This record gives sequence, structure tokens and C-alpha cells, in this order.
Amino acid sequence: MVSIGNIVLTESPLLLAPMEDVSDPPFRAVCKAFGADLTYTEFISSESLVKGAIRSRRKLDIFANERPVGIQLYGGDEDSLALASAIVEATNPSLLDINFGCPVKGVVGRGAGAGVLRDPDRMVRLTEACVRSTRLPVTVKTRLGWDEGSKNILDVAERLQDAGIQALTIHGRTRCQLYKGEADWDLIGKVKNNPRMRIPIFGNGDIDSPQKALEYTNRYGVDGIMIGRAAIGYPFIFREIKHYRLTGEMPPAPTVEERVAVCRMHLEGALSWNGPAQGLNEMRGRYAHYLKGLPGIQEYVRRLVRLPDADSVAALLSKIEASYCGYVTEAHPIKLVDYHANCAL
Ligand SMILES: Cc1cc2nc3c(=O)[nH]c(=O)nc-3n(C[C@H](O)[C@H](O)[C@H](O)COP(=O)(O)O)c2cc1C
Repeated sequence: MVSIGNIVLTESPLLLAPMEDVSDPPFRAVCKAFGADLTYTEFISSESLVKGAIRSRRKLDIFANERPVGIQLYGGDEDSLALASAIVEATNPSLLDINFGCPVKGVVGRGAGAGVLRDPDRMVRLTEACVRSTRLPVTVKTRLGWDEGSKNILDVAERLQDAGIQALTIHGRTRCQLYKGEADWDLIGKVKNNPRMRIPIFGNGDIDSPQKALEYTNRYGVDGIMIGRAAIGYPFIFREIKHYRLTGEMPPAPTVEERVAVCRMHLEGALSWNGPAQGLNEMRGRYAHYLKGLPGIQEYVRRLVRLPDADSVAALLSKIEASYCGYVTEAHPIKLVDYHANCAL
């Protein structure tokens, strides 16, 4: 069994990645229902949280049906991170995660996210500020290093462990790669196999099939894997990985009925968390993900996003279900998209 502090997970747990504008409570609950063993909130700015910004406070909402769940903070200021850690503790998540991996210019420029990979001393100070300020297990998610010439994760991992973190997730890219190229898991494996490391090491980057999940877990020896983009619109990935691991066989692809049912489940969660108007609004970007791959679905999606209330959405979902009844998706449903293609370096 893999444990983070006092949280006992499964053997080789599957983690849902923190994703801004994606990993909200309804989505986390859906992924949990399909087998995610640990989920994370979207990242939350420690400075905004301390100032009481409503948007940041709302990201602290967590519910029983998604536990265990970690709240992720980012920030470049020790005092704000310390205060924010105490605020996070008061909301009683399972753990607190620090984001040292976000490559976005606005975050990096403020000395947060992957920006700290250029200054491991600062990274350690920021980590210690969190560890000191909460009794929650503190974990870190980061990248291999700043750029190709400065992949310092081996050293960084040891120093973060010494600073008191209780698990480390590594996305196998550098900051300067953003999402380009392929994730390099060799170095993740080296961190895991460093005899000095005692805490769980989770690998992350480009897992998009049960076969790859199993192959990478075995080849690199990581304690578990974290999945981001592949789960967007396809929470079945968690169930599929577990089935494949157990039986060596791929389960049948989800039926259209199942895909619509998941979309409904997400809709219900969004409505109950946000209220009817905002819930519907939040769902507008999600339909296409749940229904992708169905021929001619674009026209239905265009109609779904314009509907004024939940009842008409539910009715149109039923119509979609009936129209595509029995349709078997042949193409591989998961295509990893570079959501940061236009991100400035
Ligand atoms: C839309 C989007 C938002 C993201 N937001 C966050 C975030 O808030 N915190 C974080 O640590 N990583 C964030 N990431 C990075 C993911 O957690 C993950 O490390 C990355 O997508 C690589 O994993 P994957 O190949 O399984 O998607 C985000 C990624 C995407 C695609």
C-alpha cells in the first residue's frame, strides 16, 4: 500500500491531476467514481487566498464523495504561503500540495510555479513555510528542471524530502518545454530509484492508455501515476487501467449510454455546486469532451451550449443517447491536446 502521511491509498494509486478550469468538485467526483484514488483541486494563488478573493475561496470547496483530495497552492511569497496553508488546513482536505510546476509566464514571473526550479534554495524556503504552518501532509508537484541544460530534479527531490514533504509528483518535462515534446520518464525513474528517497514518487506526463500506464509503472518503478488530459471527458481511463492491470485485457469501450450518463452526472454535480445558471454555464465547455468521437456530434454540441436550462439539456442528452444508441466508437477516444500551445515563454 502507498501512504502519504496518514492517508493510506491503494497499491499503485491513480491520481487525478490538478487542472485549472477542469479539476473542480463535479469533475473530481466523476473521476473518483471511475477509480481515481486521489484527486487535487485546481491550483490556488496563496496571495489571492489570503486577500480573500472569492474565486480562490471557492476553489477550497471539497465534498465527501471525492475524498481523499488534496488542495493545491502556488505562490512566491513565504508569508502568504504560510498563511494560506493555515487557511487550507481549516477546510480539512486530505493533504496540501504545492505547485512548483506551472510554466505560465505570469506565475513564473512572480517567483512561483516552475519559476522556483531556477532557485532551489527559495523552493526549499517556500516548502518549509508550508510544512511549518500546517499539520496536513504536504506534497509537491514539479517538473524535471527549468530547461534542457538544468534538469535538477534529482537534487531538488532530496532537498524537498529533507524539507518535510511526504510525496512528490514529477511531470516529465522542463519548464521551457511547456507541453512540447514527449514527457521524459527516465529521470522520474532515477528519482524513484535513488536509495536516499523514502517518500512516494508519482510519475506524470502523457499517460493516455492502460497499456502505457502499466508499462511505465513497471518500467520506472514509480509508486503511482497521475493522469491529467486523458481524463478530460474520459474518466473511464481510471477504470480501464485498473481492469487492464487486473486481467491483462482491455475492457470494452464505454457505450454511448455510459458516456451520456457520465455527462449527466457531471451536469448534476455542476448544478448542485454552482446553482442553475452558473452550473449550466460551467458545463458549456464540457459537453464536447464527453461526446467527442461521435460522428456529426458537433451540431448537437452547438445546440447543447445554447440551451437556457437544465431540463432542455437533459432532454437533448436523451435525444443524443437515442440517436447514437448502439454506436461503437472505433477510434481511440483519447487525444492529448496541448492546451498551452499559445502560452508565452
Ligand atoms: C488545462 C490544464 C490545466 C492545468 N492546471 C494545472 C494546475 O492548476 N496545477 C498543476 O499542478 N498542473 C496543472 N496542469 C498540468 C497537469 O496537472 C499535468 O501535469 C499535465 O497536464 C501533464 O499530465 P498529462 O500528460 O497527463 O496531461 C494543467 C494542465 C492542463 C492541461
